Amino acid sequence: FAAPDWAEPGDRLSPADHPTETLRARDIIAGAPPILVSPRKPDGELRGSRFSQLLILRLAPTANGPSSGRLLGYTAICSHAGCVVSSWIPGLNLFLCPCHGSEYDPARHGAVVGGPAPAPLPSIPLQDVSGLVEVAGHFSARPGGRTGRTD
Ligand code: FES
Repeated sequence: FAAPDWAEPGDRLSPADHPTETLRARDIIAGAPPILVSPRKPDGELRGSRFSQLLILRLAPTANGPSSGRLLGYTAICSHAGCVVSSWIPGLNLFLCPCHGSEYDPARHGAVVGGPAPAPLPSIPLQDVSGLVEVAGHFSARPGGRTGRTD
């Protein structure tokens, strides 16, 4: 068993498709689709496992919820069978897992709103530190749901 390589407080974030860049708070546009990112340890080392990946977004201010405009982070690992939740439903503003169609609502703490997922998508707190997005705490629950997969 490999130890989980999940994001930890103090990690910075790199876009999954641009792993040498560091995500800035101003890169997260309110109302835009989520960005898939990999955490980077404080010493600079990338957490390379796909099970470490996160979804980052800001809800549109018009969403009218308590989360609108704030930086939000969720594990990218579906609680159903461990796929990466790589799709987004614009307009409804829902995460969509392409494997079996589970839908999660980022405005409601990652609640399952469709499909076979057995548990919400765990969230992780983020903060803006001198313009860079930084992990500010731990996951709300174990990522991966009942799959138990960590790498
Ligand atoms: Fe995501 Fe099945 S793994 S819906």
